[in-house]
Amino acid sequence: MNILGIETSCDETSAAVLQNGRVTSNIISSQLVHKTYGGVVPELASREHERLIVSVVDAAVNEANIQKNDLDIIAATAGPGLIGAVMAGLCFAQGLAYSLRKPLVPVNHIEAHIFSGFIQDDPRHKAPKERFISLTVSGGHTILCAVNTDLTYTIIGRTIDDAAGEAFDKTGKMLGLDYPAGPAIDRLAAEGNPEFHEFPRALTSRSRTSKNYRDNFDFSFSGLKTSVLNYIKKHEPAFIEQHMHDIAASIQDAITSVLVEKTLAAAMKFNLNAISVTGGVSANSGLREKMEDACSRQGIRLFIPKAAYSTDNAAMIATLADLKLSRGLVTPNNYDVAPFASFRYC
Ligand code: KG4
Ligand code: ZN
Repeated sequence: MNILGIETSCDETSAAVLQNGRVTSNIISSQLVHKTYGGVVPELASREHERLIVSVVDAAVNEANIQKNDLDIIAATAGPGLIGAVMAGLCFAQGLAYSLRKPLVPVNHIEAHIFSGFIQDDPRHKAPKERFISLTVSGGHTILCAVNTDLTYTIIGRTIDDAAGEAFDKTGKMLGLDYPAGPAIDRLAAEGNPEFHEFPRALTSRSRTSKNYRDNFDFSFSGLKTSVLNYIKKHEPAFIEQHMHDIAASIQDAITSVLVEKTLAAAMKFNLNAISVTGGVSANSGLREKMEDACSRQGIRLFIPKAAYSTDNAAMIATLADLKLSRGLVTPNNYDVAPFASFRYC
């Protein structure tokens, strides 16, 4: 079975081909047009998807060494995301499916991230056989949930303000780093001292203000943002410049230690022995290292996708469509393809 996945929820135009459960192409075109604005401009993102989608899909089909007529299913992100961006990909997918007379499967972008830790050679064989805890950390979402073997899940925590990726991007912007700042903070932090300054870790054991953190699996990063802003204002630009690596390492440590503490606490509370960490921020080397350490100490199996499947990609869209189709959870051509902006299907 050949599935074409299409992903356009934010600023990555991506198309991938999955052949009998195996990813044979995964083309990702990252839009550079937003760099000068310090964040994604929704209108520009939609226009860029329109401009790029044909060539990206062609490249994915060519790399998989098939013809469009060989496709059996078209799967596309239906949300959540920037609504114009989602529509650019979804409408293209509908048109393609219609012209090829092939079924279209709409895919929830966050659900696709949740299962992206299992994209390996053959995801259907690697699909989770046990309940697990999933942490999805991206530019727009920070969601902790318990995932059941039938692919249903219960959200047990989420951010009450900024997403983890947003915390990286916004504090990085304050330090003069280009958007998205997450990867740059990661690089700087590699040579910095994470204990240089203690930025706040809201709703955790190390928070100075939250008392009832134990059964609280929500996240909050807005205080961290304010704290970094105040810290920058309080010091001379030359000091900030001189300690860039240490400040980046301290910010990264504040964000990642909260993510690790809460995810591990959730696994303990629900007595689960597997954790998956997905979404753009799962590419962060500090987070990977801390999660690996914590999980190996507790004897928990950890699933983190490789970098190409961490950030937005169409392989995860095709993979989730495949998983759901193989388990009879989607009926081809019998669904609502309305695009949606927020994570409401859960
Ligand atoms: O999943 P994703 O590609 O798009 C969304 O659905 O939002 O995630 C993008 C986010 C951005 O905030 C970016 O700064 C962050 O992932 N990110 C990172 C790293 N790579 C990407 N954050 C920290 N360290 C990284 N290495
Ligand atoms: Zn995403």
